[in-house]
Amino acid sequence: PLTANINAHDHLEIGGCDLQTLVEQFGSPLYILDEMTLRTACRQYRDNFQTYYKGESQVIYASKAWSCLAVVGVIARENLGFDVVSGGELYTTQKALTQLGYSCQEIAKKIYFHGNNKSEAELKEAIKVGCTIIVDNWLELQTLAQLGNDTPNLTIPILIRLTPGIECHTHEYIRTGHLDSKFGFDPNQLEAVFTYISQQTSLDCRGLHAHIGSQIFERQPHQDLAGVLVEWLKIGREYGLNLSELNIGGGLGICYTEEDDPPSIEEWVKAVSEAVMKACQRCEIDLPKLIAEPGRSLIGSACVTAYTVGSRKEIPELRTYIAVDGGMSDNPRPITYQSLYRVALANRMSAEISETVTIAGKHCESGDIVIKDAQLPQTHPGDILVIMGTGAYNYSMASNYNRLPRPAAVMVNQGEANLIVRRETYDDLIRQDCLPQRLLP
Ligand code: LLP
Repeated sequence: PLTANINAHDHLEIGGCDLQTLVEQFGSPLYILDEMTLRTACRQYRDNFQTYYKGESQVIYASKAWSCLAVVGVIARENLGFDVVSGGELYTTQKALTQLGYSCQEIAKKIYFHGNNKSEAELKEAIKVGCTIIVDNWLELQTLAQLGNDTPNLTIPILIRLTPGIECHTHEYIRTGHLDSKFGFDPNQLEAVFTYISQQTSLDCRGLHAHIGSQIFERQPHQDLAGVLVEWLKIGREYGLNLSELNIGGGLGICYTEEDDPPSIEEWVKAVSEAVMKACQRCEIDLPKLIAEPGRSLIGSACVTAYTVGSRKEIPELRTYIAVDGGMSDNPRPITYQSLYRVALANRMSAEISETVTIAGKHCESGDIVIKDAQLPQTHPGDILVIMGTGAYNYSMASNYNRLPRPAAVMVNQGEANLIVRRETYDDLIRQDCLPQRLLP
């Protein structure tokens, strides 16, 4: 899906930009986001819902995958909404949308606010923006009802998040009556929740939400989820609630390695749409507005990370390490989830594969490995390695471990590269530090 090719210098080009030139210009490591790939994924979600779902639909981007002004900008221009999970994501999204010229009403409609422990301050921020709040638990429900009652003429749009009892793993899923998750209301309390909400004049409960997991390759779990949610929607309507929205969450997986085989966005959207429509027919209820909130499958494949090769260590008959100038601070996924990635030698794309090496990061931690046993041509210090599929949960989970400044990010499109996140400086690293007076001479 990347708009990539190999140019006359035998260099990798993404979005029409030579990777080596980008590194010379913007430094290393560097996140390189391909605008067209991101836009294409947005369109695939949006257009396929319009094709396969007979009711209204809305796709909202799970900002946790990567939230920054430019990413919000591109996704907003593709007419998607936003799922935010903290005051910080809400702030970023709202700032970007305001700068893009959207009105307060438009911004309110685009944003859904998630989280299992939103603070009262965050809830007030969300109320001020006017976005829909996805209520996770009793404390939040009661706090919102109270905030609503305290303010004349205020109705707060909400969805209710439920724990659906459908567990997903990458290669299997199990369905259980009891699900151990910190998120959402226990479905056993559904009727108590509906009763409570139906007594609150300041809460406008629009529908239900559930999310079953991430990097999912099967369609069945989401189809099962659709069935369960529609049944609950019907029960809620029997309580007199005007439940018109059904949010099925995100979770569609992407290809990190050749072995990964997720359904396409079209196949996923078709499966989900049909499952919801079938369940509505079975339950004899009107089609709700169907909402999906993908993160990884929108932005994951749209970004690569470029690193520069440095030192090499050969342990005879055991392993060869080559080290790059980043690692677990810019991509914590391998050390956190044992995630796998693909690599290419960006400045000699047609060089023949000649060795198996382990690509290590530069952090003071043995587990800081980018890829174990990668197949690569002979590399030299200064070569540029590019890791594919780093758009989701890389920048957003990056840290300053070992006081590494976080890398810059550029967005490429048709031969043009725009800086979208500046590289941190050493001064940025100490910006929030305070040295107590009494330590001074
Ligand atoms: N909606 C909710 C309520 C979520 O919790 C998530 C992800 C999404 C949507 C988006 O899921 P996606 O489409 O991206 O699979 N840091 C982990 C992934 C954590 C996902 C958390 N929730 C990783 O790097 O794999």
